[in-house]
Amino acid sequence: MSRLSTFEISRRSLLRGAAALAALVPATASLAACSSEEAPAPADEGVAGSAAAGSAPAEDVAAPEQDAAQPAGGSVLVTYFSATGNTEAAAQAIAEHLGADVFEIIPAEPYTDADLDYNDSASRTSVERAEDARPELAQLTPDGFDACDTVFVGYPIWWGDAAWPVKTFAENNDFTGKTVVPFCTSASSGVGGSGDELAELAGTGDWLEGRRFAAGSGDDAAAWADSLGL
Ligand SMILES: Cc1cc2nc3c(=O)[nH]c(=O)nc-3n(C[C@H](O)[C@H](O)[C@H](O)COP(=O)(O)O)c2cc1C
Repeated sequence: MSRLSTFEISRRSLLRGAAALAALVPATASLAACSSEEAPAPADEGVAGSAAAGSAPAEDVAAPEQDAAQPAGGSVLVTYFSATGNTEAAAQAIAEHLGADVFEIIPAEPYTDADLDYNDSASRTSVERAEDARPELAQLTPDGFDACDTVFVGYPIWWGDAAWPVKTFAENNDFTGKTVVPFCTSASSGVGGSGDELAELAGTGDWLEGRRFAAGSGDDAAAWADSLGL
């Protein structure tokens, strides 16, 4: 597909870079509860990249310690799926800036490099695209999800669409009473109708207009999240 050829080289570089980063930093916790504590200033360090094949299943990851003194209300959770680390970096930047907790949407069967080969019509992502698949997730609902008032939902763009695991997440959670904020990363495509489609799939929640970020735009993502005044 010609639309994809422009970012093929950078994707492969990113995959290599993300894999190297993943070896250096601990995996992001996938279990989370909402947080409403005031955020410190955004940190320069601590953004963890993760390759798809390196993502640990939810059962293997320790839940972050919860702050018993958290005030009730105004709680924010940043959820994301990321196959090669770009969306994860944006999610971490948003979460650090807002002092929010993080929940990683992890496919039960993580995506390998071969799975992500959009030039191969027989690759897993290509086949799943044709089937409009909903990959099974390691954990469907974040711990403490009921208490969340605001939920960011991050994902990569795949063929102009929201990556399928986040569709599974949207379809299988109840966002009633929550403000939901979609965001995505891509090589060049815009957010398009991906946020609207997720809202439709979810059927609940007050979904705001989504925003697309390029790889390495953590500061922009944090500034955007801040500007929402949530
Ligand atoms: C299967 C597949 C399809 C993709 N399709 C698009 C696309 O249509 N438009 C685009 O700009 N980028 C596309 N990309 C690139 C990703 O959107 C981009 O690298 C994104 O930042 C990856 O996020 P992640 O590192 O969180 O997985 C595609 C990548 C993959 C693996």
